[in-house]
Amino acid sequence: MSKPRARQKTATPKALVLGGATGLLGQALVKVLAGRGWQVESLGRTDGNLTDIAFLTRRLARSAADVVFNAVAWTRVDDAEEHPEQARLLNCTLPDALARILKSIGQGHLVHYSTDFVFSGQERAPWREEDTPKPASVYGETKLAGEQAVLGLLPGSACVLRTAWLFGPGRKNFVETILAKSRAADTVQVVFDQTGSPTYTLDLARWSAALAEKRAAGLWHTVNSGHANWAELAAETLALAGSRCQVIPVSSGQWPQKARRPAWSVLDVTKLGNSLGQPPRPWPQALRDYLYSSF
Ligand SMILES: NC(=O)c1ccc[n+]([C@@H]2O[C@H](COP(=O)([O-])OP(=O)(O)OC[C@H]3O[C@@H](n4cnc5c(N)ncnc54)[C@H](OP(=O)(O)O)[C@@H]3O)[C@@H](O)[C@H]2O)c1
Repeated sequence: MSKPRARQKTATPKALVLGGATGLLGQALVKVLAGRGWQVESLGRTDGNLTDIAFLTRRLARSAADVVFNAVAWTRVDDAEEHPEQARLLNCTLPDALARILKSIGQGHLVHYSTDFVFSGQERAPWREEDTPKPASVYGETKLAGEQAVLGLLPGSACVLRTAWLFGPGRKNFVETILAKSRAADTVQVVFDQTGSPTYTLDLARWSAALAEKRAAGLWHTVNSGHANWAELAAETLALAGSRCQVIPVSSGQWPQKARRPAWSVLDVTKLGNSLGQPPRPWPQALRDYLYSSF
């Protein structure tokens, strides 16, 4: 009888997720990574001041994570216009510090998130990773500065995933807002002249994990396939939910906001599709999953 083969020991990869306990994306990352067998630790404001470099250095060294996922950001796009320094602290200084600390420790891959709002543009072909960004808002400017800091400091051991128009469980988002409004009114006004790439947080978390497992580096556009304007996204949400509430399309001019938003910020996902072996699924399919499944 042949001897049983010794079981091969595979190390469990360790992840540290900034924003993992409360963030829209952070919560999806924790769920997906744990489901793929990662050992996952979250780090957020209740653990300490993330912008205190000494604290952050201690926590990163202590966690000895193989991959650090940074899902912390200043995401209040309009408020950023009035609080540019606070937005810069979270969107640029924090990722810069994370990259510097990981570089000095000499271990750990960084996955950082950015936004379609680094572009400002009129309708054209979807934006590719190599296209020149031109943010139109403080939020977009600070996010661009953050991605440049990360990629400048860790060109071979960090990736920046630009994403957009997130919906998913665990925190307020556009889809939830539309559903809430539909329960209180027969009509809802939604902007029709901004077009982007609606994206499901659990899909983004799966792509993040897949890229992290390959230790992918560089800039990636990570959104669901297809595009929509906000009114179309609202109408699809209400149709899938079986609501009778009507969407009234309005122009951005009728819905003034403090921060300027790109009219066309659809992201090209060819690079992501090539890495995954198939294009990311279309956003309406992902939206159906979100609305019909429990977290
Ligand atoms: N949401 C979108 O549609 C969208 C679109 C494009 C790109 N992105 C990018 O995707 C990433 C994730 O976004 P998200 O929508 O998941 O963000 P989110 O739901 O707003 O979560 C932000 C996270 O950052 C934390 N945070 C904020 N200020 C903090 C502070 N001073 N100290 C410590 N933690 C703080 C929040 O903690 P608390 O819960 O304690 O506040 C929360 O965990 C970000 O990089 C964002 O720029 C998002």
